[in-house]
Amino acid sequence: VKTSVEFLHFYLCLLMQLNYHNKKNISCSTAVNDLVYIIDGSWSVGVSDFDTAKQWLINITSQFDISSHYTQVAVIQYSDTPRLEIPLGKHQGVAELIKAIRSISYLGGNTQTGRAIKFAVDHVFASSQRGNLVKNRIAVVVTDGKSQDDVVDASMEARAQSITVFAVGVGTEITTSELISIANKPSSTYVLYAEDYTTIDRIRDSMEQKLCEESVCPTRIPVASRDEKGFELMVGMNIQTKAKKIPGSLVSETAYALAASTDITENTREIFPEGLPPSYVFVSTLRLKGISSKLSFDLWRVLSKDKAIQAAVTLSGKDKTVTFTTTSTTEKEQKAVFKTGFQVGTLYDGKWHQIKVLVRHRQVTGFLDDQRIQELMLKPVEPIYINGETQVSKRRGTDITVEIQKLRLYCDPHQSERETACEIYSAMNASKWLPFTLCDSSDAD
Ligand SMILES: *[C@@H]1O[C@H](CO)[C@@H](O)[C@H](O)[C@H]1NC(C)=O
Ligand SMILES: *[C@@H]1O[C@H](CO)[C@@H](O)[C@H](O)[C@H]1NC(C)=O
Ligand SMILES: *[C@@H]1O[C@H](CO)[C@@H](O)[C@H](O)[C@H]1NC(C)=O
Repeated sequence: VKTSVEFLHFYLCLLMQLNYHNKKNISCSTAVNDLVYIIDGSWSVGVSDFDTAKQWLINITSQFDISSHYTQVAVIQYSDTPRLEIPLGKHQGVAELIKAIRSISYLGGNTQTGRAIKFAVDHVFASSQRGNLVKNRIAVVVTDGKSQDDVVDASMEARAQSITVFAVGVGTEITTSELISIANKPSSTYVLYAEDYTTIDRIRDSMEQKLCEESVCPTRIPVASRDEKGFELMVGMNIQTKAKKIPGSLVSETAYALAASTDITENTREIFPEGLPPSYVFVSTLRLKGISSKLSFDLWRVLSKDKAIQAAVTLSGKDKTVTFTTTSTTEKEQKAVFKTGFQVGTLYDGKWHQIKVLVRHRQVTGFLDDQRIQELMLKPVEPIYINGETQVSKRRGTDITVEIQKLRLYCDPHQSERETACEIYSAMNASKWLPFTLCDSSDAD
């Protein structure tokens, strides 16, 4: 009897675990990270600013689910030598971790940043019990001054071991070149500055967003000379292999015609393995002809297993609108409808256009050919379920044909400013200039 009860217990636990992983909605909170904070405890900081630095760490940590399944945190304080304040994975649960961070006492001494980074690489990241299960290894170095030792070798070693390093410089005594050599490239992403500890709260949102992007956006899209974090859906969704190749808006561009019979469906888990970041930019360059310019369909949608919409961009030629649908904490879903008549209407005129949907905390902005259409408010959103499918160009009943040249999701909301509708304007102006214009040549096929 005992063994069968034990077996039943074991079986139920297993079932619950499986269910847990299957059902849990996914966001940066549920990313699998080893996150190591390396904080400056040298004399120049002082007790009160050190307390502020601890509070800041607590603030940016609160967005993660702290557990052996998800994010594990370690804290190193350094001056002449590094001191391991909190070993990786010691605390399960955010409350316990916060308590431990609060109780760290200030060290005082010189500033040997390089030594502290080397210690993190050799002893802290290396001590992780989770091995290959960890998706992201991230170090955040907070410093208020110039290091008295060399930081270059230790930082290079960190990168060689696929550890992403952020450098946070606080105050006026910092050396920009040093922060740049500590952090990953591009430094516009991985180096952050605060005027002093009293204003460090101002870089909290940006630190949170960057940590979250790092956790949920594993892939990069080459754009001009940069690598942008994001999802190239033309490739990920297999549009380039499933649909028919056609000429794009410029001679240098290729597009794909999605016919009624082209089924563009993939498991969300394959496309967005860690869900969607809290802020992102959805961009598509496309041409709607014939029936696709008269009906309503989902250009892009993420469905849960039971077909509930987790995210979608819906085009309606009938109403001349563009609708963004996302999750809501209070209702099944919420919709933001962009409908500034004439402007959105041009999308359905049979020519190439670019739509851009910039999703940020509590607001969403629609753009057509880089012209802002409207900014709408959002209620709080829930993390998405990744147990269903992600689809492109879907409509129930009638089938439609869409021609798509670009379909991307960038994780950095600032990419919205860099992503101009060059492929549209160059096409419009082509005759005035050259027979064709190269647009963002490095990402052309
Ligand atoms: C989704 O996750 C959030 C926390 O991240 C939780 O509060 C919410 O209840 C979850 N929703 C469902 C439907 O499980
Ligand atoms: C931490 O968050 C609280 C609440 O949002 C805020 O009042 C405080 O200024 C933050 N502190 C730091 C140091 O970021
Ligand atoms: C194309 O022409 C439009 C209107 O004439 C102008 O606003 C735009 O800047 C031009 N774009 C380029 C890339 O030359």
